[in-house]
Amino acid sequence: MDVIVINGGKALSGSVTTSGSKNAALPLLFAALLAKGEHSFENVPQLKDIDSTELLLNHLNCETYRTGNQLKVTVNEPGELVAPYDIVRKMRASILCLGPLLARHGRVKVSLPGGCAIGSRPINLHIEPLQQLGAHIEIENGYVFATAKKLVGDRIVFDFATVGGTENIMMAATLCRGTTVLENVAREPEVVDLARCLRSMGAKIEGEGTSTITIEGVDELEPAAYSVIPDRIEAGTLLLAGAITGGDVKVVKCVPGDLYALINKLADCGFEIETGEDWVRVKPCKQWRAVDLDTAPHPGFPTDLQAQFMALMTQANGTSVITERIFENRFMHVQELARMGANITPETQVAVVHGNKGGLSGAPVMATDLRASACLILAGLATEGETVVSRIYHLDRGYENLEAKLAGLGARIERRSL
Ligand code: EPZ
Repeated sequence: MDVIVINGGKALSGSVTTSGSKNAALPLLFAALLAKGEHSFENVPQLKDIDSTELLLNHLNCETYRTGNQLKVTVNEPGELVAPYDIVRKMRASILCLGPLLARHGRVKVSLPGGCAIGSRPINLHIEPLQQLGAHIEIENGYVFATAKKLVGDRIVFDFATVGGTENIMMAATLCRGTTVLENVAREPEVVDLARCLRSMGAKIEGEGTSTITIEGVDELEPAAYSVIPDRIEAGTLLLAGAITGGDVKVVKCVPGDLYALINKLADCGFEIETGEDWVRVKPCKQWRAVDLDTAPHPGFPTDLQAQFMALMTQANGTSVITERIFENRFMHVQELARMGANITPETQVAVVHGNKGGLSGAPVMATDLRASACLILAGLATEGETVVSRIYHLDRGYENLEAKLAGLGARIERRSL
């Protein structure tokens, strides 16, 4: 079992480069199922979730081979059109194979992804729009059974701007008969990246990044040759590592425009932020103010940075009220931060953080989910003494060599096998 050991209390400084986006790469790899042939993706991060996706693509008779951060996917005629439980349970986003396989082959059986630590994670906003496009869907024995002679375009209004739901239906709609109009869609950069990739494959899509996406169905698509956007959540995590240690950190190869919710919050706290074409720099700040935070769909503050920002607020001057509006159970890092001495009053979807600079002390803590792992590492960086983070298999799902990147900025951090 690996752990990450941090001896914190040291200001980080220097430049660090982000990897490709996990949450962009996953839907892009499933989009390959829409077109036979050899697809090539660049800037694909080396993560456990990508490994799980390759496993599922291989199960669907696709060949995958990686050279560094290039991943090639050869899509052949599929064998059985099944995404089995033992693969899907490892990575919930496997549900994103549903739309492409149904649209291209007219039938598919996909295991229900089930919930996870942060919430029940239902998929009704994936299923109902597919039914509206003409799919016949039954859910039994823990599987989604979907069939459709030919999906037919329609106007779909999402109850909530779901990222995965938008991505699944957008992919399915590229091969529908006629036009599909999607309203109240997610505007996340990863959704925009998927739309751009689909367009490069011959799809007729417009409106990505706004609340309405219009797709005119085509008969078939061509293989992708596409490069994944930088990971904005990793970039935000690295900026917060600089901020919480009172350091001077420049994150390069990122998209400042994807980070403005965080940049504005850091400025409200009193941090000086500089931005360039593909970099953002946070400069040293001795004492920052507490600010309130509500997570929201993009361009609001991303839920995937909520835990990391909470770590920063434990060291702020004042009280921060953090409201998690996307997931119903995304405060499990609170009790672990409390073990380090943080003063946080958790309620259902609100956590009141009573900032206390210097109030954290190193402690053994346990990662409960992907972004909570990063939160605990940031808290460890901010405090004297040794912090040992266990269950870091959560971290390895979504961060590529995070400890090496932080060590490159001067952090006293290492991975140990116990
Ligand atoms: C994506 O998950 C991301 N994952 C998540 O990142 C991210 O937190 C989330 O979007 C929100 O930005 C990937 O892109 C692989 P949603 P997704 O559908 O698509 C409810 C990380 O840390 N909902 O926008 O599952 C749902 O319960 C991960 O990298 C329904 O009710 O998110 C949740 O409360 C964590 N019915 C809310 O919507 C549905 O059919 C947001 O879910 C679908 C969702």
